[in-house]
Amino acid sequence: MSLTQPAAVVVLAAGEGTRMKSRTPKVLHEIGGRSLLGHALHAARALEPARLAVVVRHERDAVAAHATALDDGVTIVDQDEIPGTGRAVQCALTALDAAVRGAALVHAAPGSAPGGEVAALHGPVVVMAGDTPLLDAGTLAELLRAHTEDGNAVTVLTTTVTEPHGYGRILREGGAVVGVVEERDATTEQRQIREINTSTYVFDAAVLRDALGSVDQDNDQGEVYLTDVVALAHRQGLGVRAISVDDSWLVEGVNDRVQLAALGAELNRRTLEQWMRDGVTVVDPGTAWVDVEVELARDVTLLPGTQLHGRTRVGEGATIGPDTTLRDVVVGAGATVVRTHGSDAELEAGSTTGPFAYLRPGAHLGEQGKIGTFVEVKNASIGAGAKVPHLTYVGDADIGEGTNIGASSVFVNYDGVAKHRTRIGAHARTGSDNMFVAPVTVGDGAYTGAGTTIREDVPPGALAVSGGPQRNIDGWVLRRRPGSAAAEAAARALGGDATNLDATNPDATGQPDSDSGAPATAAANPGAAALSAQARAERARAVPESRTPRDHQVPGATGEKDSDR
Ligand code: UD1
Ligand code: CA
Repeated sequence: MSLTQPAAVVVLAAGEGTRMKSRTPKVLHEIGGRSLLGHALHAARALEPARLAVVVRHERDAVAAHATALDDGVTIVDQDEIPGTGRAVQCALTALDAAVRGAALVHAAPGSAPGGEVAALHGPVVVMAGDTPLLDAGTLAELLRAHTEDGNAVTVLTTTVTEPHGYGRILREGGAVVGVVEERDATTEQRQIREINTSTYVFDAAVLRDALGSVDQDNDQGEVYLTDVVALAHRQGLGVRAISVDDSWLVEGVNDRVQLAALGAELNRRTLEQWMRDGVTVVDPGTAWVDVEVELARDVTLLPGTQLHGRTRVGEGATIGPDTTLRDVVVGAGATVVRTHGSDAELEAGSTTGPFAYLRPGAHLGEQGKIGTFVEVKNASIGAGAKVPHLTYVGDADIGEGTNIGASSVFVNYDGVAKHRTRIGAHARTGSDNMFVAPVTVGDGAYTGAGTTIREDVPPGALAVSGGPQRNIDGWVLRRRPGSAAAEAAARALGGDATNLDATNPDATGQPDSDSGAPATAAANPGAAALSAQARAERARAVPESRTPRDHQVPGATGEKDSDR
């Protein structure tokens, strides 16, 4: 990215971050879906440095593991017990010098003369803090370019703020930078200075090594200050310059959670602004949140209340929201996702999801498919053009293309010990309120009746039904709930028949309530006297014949015999 590649970038991340008041080390807190340290490493890596070091101490293992996971090329440097930013850089230089010497030994030609010049890090070294998340590679590259073009020994990045409290102030004489003084070591006069040190520098490696060797801990905090290198280099007559950035957000550090939120909001504002310039409609930038690694195509629309996290990718013309949160979800072109919460899922082109859908890891919806309202999908693939429109749980399943799953169905995937898979073929039509007790397979083009519990495989083209025939206990309400609104409504509907039923069968219920589904109070009434002639005939008939497809309200299927179970 730049003509000059630094010999090293050193990221300072050993400090405690006390003001965060957190178990989590400060640099591991996140904005825009990336840790503060992640932002720093991202910008640092873009400079293509020969070496990239991260200095750790507080919560050393957690910070080191995080840094290595983000970038396996980093050198982890442990700061010793001597405190201060200067000591941190000194520890880094020692480690980097050792690495350079080690590499020199490995690459030395066999038989080459030993001794001679001792290898050490040389060239420009960028030093930056791990808690300045908006500092971008472009600004760092500018700083580096100025440093090399001017042939400086030290180039410090500064900015001018209205509220300089807490920062190191840039001391100038006749315009030239002569030093940096920390707030707590500054005179009242020096505290009026509004040009501040951003903790971002480029040093010549040899100058840095030399100067740090003579920096003491004679200051209010008793620390080795990196800032003292600036004055030392100036006194030696070396080139010390400052580059100032106008955009103070870029160099603002996070010290507490108020700054974390402020920088998070600013980063989001900038992310959204960039996407809008690239052709994305963001209806309400105040309520849309998009992580830095999210990718959006042209003509994507983000409706209010949309949060896109992680590596979510959205294809051209898709509409997300309102009130949708997606993490690591891939959305195809032209798809719509309404009031949905999802993670690790894929929704292909032209598909529709929601409102009120819950997509769990491994949910996959094919082109033009539909995941409808109050539907939860986990580790399941729904084929192209297939629909799961209402009130359904689809877990551990494969549903073929063009299939329709009836409302209020459950893919019963767990037997208390293990999870099992359900396979439903292409162009099947399953009835409402079905239970698919996995492992089970429903063949291509099969139908299932409403309320069916599928425990065994259904062959292609078959109709599956389960459960006994329905029986109606005529007149039950009129006898057992006389005077109720239900009884009155029934009486009106039945007209003369109601009087007849009521008079002739004052007490009988026909069946125990365990059969009829009526309330338990009627359970003691014996006998079958109240069964209508029709109901009795219904009961007497052999079960298979009575369960015609029409009884089960299967659309389009008439007259066939039930499938052989
Ligand atoms: C530092 C600068 C100050 C500057 C400010 C900008 C010094 C002495 N002061 O002050 O001039 O205006 O940053 O934000 O450098 N760190 C270590 N090891 C340590 C101490 C700190 O690695 O022993 C790291 C921290 O993790 C942090 C960075 O260095 O990433 C800055 O440390 P911090 O304590 O925040 O310095 P400030 O007091 O803010
Ligand atoms: Ca700081």
